[in-house]
Amino acid sequence: MTRLKRFTTLVSFFLGLLVCQQVQGEAEEGCFSGIFAFGDGQFDTGTVSGTFPTILAYDHPPYGQTYFKKPAGRYSDGRLMLDFLAEALGLGFVSAALQTVNSDYSSGATWASAFSTIQSVAAGHTAGPGLFLSPFGIGVQVMQFVEFQISVNSEVNKQAKLMAKLKDGFTDDAPAEETPKKKKKDKKPRHFLQEVDNDDETVKPLAVNITLLELEANTMRLPKKGSWSDALYLIGTGAHDIINGFNNGKSIKYVEDMFPRLVNTLGDSVTRLHHLGARNMIVFGIEPQGCQPWLLTRIQHTADDLDWKGCLVTYNNVVQNFNRMLRNEVAHWRMTHEGLNIYYFSQYDVKTGLLTNDTAGFKSTNTACCGVAGSTYNVNLMVPCGPPAMDPATNMTETPTVCSNPNEYLYWDGMYTTEAGNKYVVQQMLTGKYFDIPFPRLTEKCVVNLLS
Ligand SMILES: *[C@@H]1O[C@H](CO)[C@@H](O)[C@H](O)[C@H]1NC(C)=O
Ligand SMILES: *[C@@H]1O[C@H](CO)[C@@H](O)[C@H](O)[C@H]1NC(C)=O
Ligand SMILES: *[C@@H]1O[C@H](CO)[C@@H](O)[C@H](O)[C@H]1NC(C)=O
Repeated sequence: MTRLKRFTTLVSFFLGLLVCQQVQGEAEEGCFSGIFAFGDGQFDTGTVSGTFPTILAYDHPPYGQTYFKKPAGRYSDGRLMLDFLAEALGLGFVSAALQTVNSDYSSGATWASAFSTIQSVAAGHTAGPGLFLSPFGIGVQVMQFVEFQISVNSEVNKQAKLMAKLKDGFTDDAPAEETPKKKKKDKKPRHFLQEVDNDDETVKPLAVNITLLELEANTMRLPKKGSWSDALYLIGTGAHDIINGFNNGKSIKYVEDMFPRLVNTLGDSVTRLHHLGARNMIVFGIEPQGCQPWLLTRIQHTADDLDWKGCLVTYNNVVQNFNRMLRNEVAHWRMTHEGLNIYYFSQYDVKTGLLTNDTAGFKSTNTACCGVAGSTYNVNLMVPCGPPAMDPATNMTETPTVCSNPNEYLYWDGMYTTEAGNKYVVQQMLTGKYFDIPFPRLTEKCVVNLLS
């Protein structure tokens, strides 16, 4: 063994001491050890950015400007609901599992992917003209989670074996009765904890710089012990299935007729996650999409089509029909999956509540903060928030601008909400009022006052 190899093995051994305290083991009471998130852009902290870099406008300023001061793989000016929820749970940022460098899974991981759907792209689902579609539908994301579990478990088991060797003594690979000569002949590798002096073949333990090893250990950043069963699982998807349906020119009836199939497919993912250890899960209902500046721009309408809050009535009815079915299914999944504490969170009610909440501090709830000025909703469908771009309708280069105070806007870029909007939703979630049944483990056992 070369000196370098020996050192590397030593490092992984001592990492084992730290890593073995992670991932596997009994679930603990109290708050959650991490978050595993699935779905669309609501929980995407870098999946699309890591897999389709720079092709989308949100990989450029002004995305991220409010909090991260630079684009941060998120469709917002700052933090997402996932970030605020993690903060409330006393956790750090949750990395995208598909992000390659600087990932930190000690607070969990997300497979959520902006513009992803319940329907499978492999099975032929398309977004229709002009819309990006993530190939990582919910089924693919759960498969990616399986791979992640296998990799993490294998690493932890490797470390556990090394730990067991330590318990058995330092010299198990090099029995004392063996002669140095024979060993040399067989080229039998030395045990990693043996320093062999080439001159006299005496065995002595290596001095180890623990500080250095602990620094190295941080680069592992695996989920905490017990996380498969103890983490909080989030699922939020379905909005793009509806958008894509209408974008493909389908009728309301066609779109609504898909719902039982969509909810069933989502149920398959819930079942798989339950088999993989999930015990606490929140399923997010779809937000009132009919209030999105992007949709209000995209879908032609008259004043008669809007409610007094300025939202598309028909579209929101479709969303509510989906949510009703989803909520009923969550109650059903609770019955049919033993030990699964699963909750439906009505994001729809929180956001419509915000529209009527004068004390929440939002001055604009259906105008995009970032966009090309001049349109009703501050949205130009051809030139989204991001870098200047050519508008094919005019052959002019248009430059999106940012509102003076994003905290007064619910919508950042027309489709995705601002950091302020996301924070509001999580604050309301933590009151416990918007779950279908009480979720005391979240609202009572976690330190949830960090957001005030
Ligand atoms: C151990 O490594 C750390 C980090 O490189 C270094 O600062 C420290 O001086 C080392 N300690 C010893 C005793 O060599
Ligand atoms: C309105 O917003 C404030 C500030 O965020 C919040 O404390 C309050 O709970 C909200 N009211 C309702 C009825 O949701
Ligand atoms: C924009 O430029 C293209 C190609 O030069 C041309 O075909 C099109 O008519 C122009 N459109 C407008 C609105 O000027």
